[in-house]
Amino acid sequence: MNEFSKFFKKNKMERLHLVKNFSKLTKDELLLLEKLTNLEFQQADQMIENAIGTFSLPLGIATNFRINDKDYIIPMVIEEPSIIAASSKAAKIANIKGGFKAKSSTQYSMGQIYINNCNLDIVTKQIMKNKNKILQFANSKTHTLSKIKKGAKNISCREINVDGNQILVVEILVDVGNAMGANITNSMCEKISPLIEKITGGNSIMKILTNYYTSRMVTSSAIFDKKQIGGEEVVNKILLAYKIAMNDKYRAVTHNKGIMNGIISISNATCQDTRAIEAAAHAFAAQTGKYLPLTTWKKNQNNDLVGSIKLPLSVGTIGGIINVHPMAKLCLKILRVKSAKTLSCIIASVGLAQNFAALYALVTDGIQKGHMKLHAKNLAVAAGVKFENIDVVVNKMIQEDDISINNAKKLQKLFKN
Ligand code: MEV
Repeated sequence: MNEFSKFFKKNKMERLHLVKNFSKLTKDELLLLEKLTNLEFQQADQMIENAIGTFSLPLGIATNFRINDKDYIIPMVIEEPSIIAASSKAAKIANIKGGFKAKSSTQYSMGQIYINNCNLDIVTKQIMKNKNKILQFANSKTHTLSKIKKGAKNISCREINVDGNQILVVEILVDVGNAMGANITNSMCEKISPLIEKITGGNSIMKILTNYYTSRMVTSSAIFDKKQIGGEEVVNKILLAYKIAMNDKYRAVTHNKGIMNGIISISNATCQDTRAIEAAAHAFAAQTGKYLPLTTWKKNQNNDLVGSIKLPLSVGTIGGIINVHPMAKLCLKILRVKSAKTLSCIIASVGLAQNFAALYALVTDGIQKGHMKLHAKNLAVAAGVKFENIDVVVNKMIQEDDISINNAKKLQKLFKN
């Protein structure tokens, strides 16, 4: 990965060529990356209703990631400055102690059918008696999954109490392979719902997947060498910052927001359902009844900092919008990833890296120092500073401790004379 060192100092074409070589992109794929609009109107019009155009966001590459002993470059789509630099820096520090070790569980999606007006004791037994028939019927909805021995695998029943009434929840577990699987899960639920009604004699109130993916958990951990981060004093400060998040939900939300900066950036780049990812993550953070950080931090015997993350993550590498959006396919190719399990390991590791970077910055220099340089750059661009003068104007603004559009305009005039 040495070729990626000082990636930020390279120009656009140099960066593109490094990515092309690393991920073995074709000429056409390179052209697609070079184009500023890579989603045609027709494609956009297919994806949503009433399309009037497309909306671009920056796509950047976080470098230095080593996850389960394999090197990765991470495509990230995000509007916020500093996130990509912070991830790359955190990954570089993690590498010293072997990088990230990540693991993901089964890729199961769960559909729910809510039934009322039935005798729960009797119907649960009836459903279990008919389990194979229901599963077979559900699986008749998908030849693709059945062919690869995936698809509906199990049915279970639960009851919930709503305003004093017992409601039956029939839950169907679907092995969705490398897909996110929302469509197939919802289709299966709708397909089997009349059969469930027939078996139970009740009425189906609604049928839909749950976005709380507790059968799609992912964990990642990494060691951050104390010598790289200012020694044990900084390690202790980070541990205290973590404990504050454990004990104050106002801080825990911001702590988790930083984690989501990483998770959502790579999810955007690969066209995942980011709303589902967010909803599941926050539900998990609050699973004990108290909203807690998604990461945990401790010291090892060496007094190095050890971080880990655990969350439900539902992602896909095939199906849905991934088959439609050319950049989603391309970003997956940049990642050199085919399986949803590997993708979720990478996403969780990026979330952990991001959290480390935020905590490290917060307990040392603060986050504004890094932010301000990019902010100053944005202001210089907005003030109309010529490309070749931007660095000088930015450095001058920082030196003068006056990062403002007025100062950028004033400094810009110096170049005109
Ligand atoms: C900013 O987008 C994210 C942080 O606020 C996260 C945190 O405070 O942990 C820096």
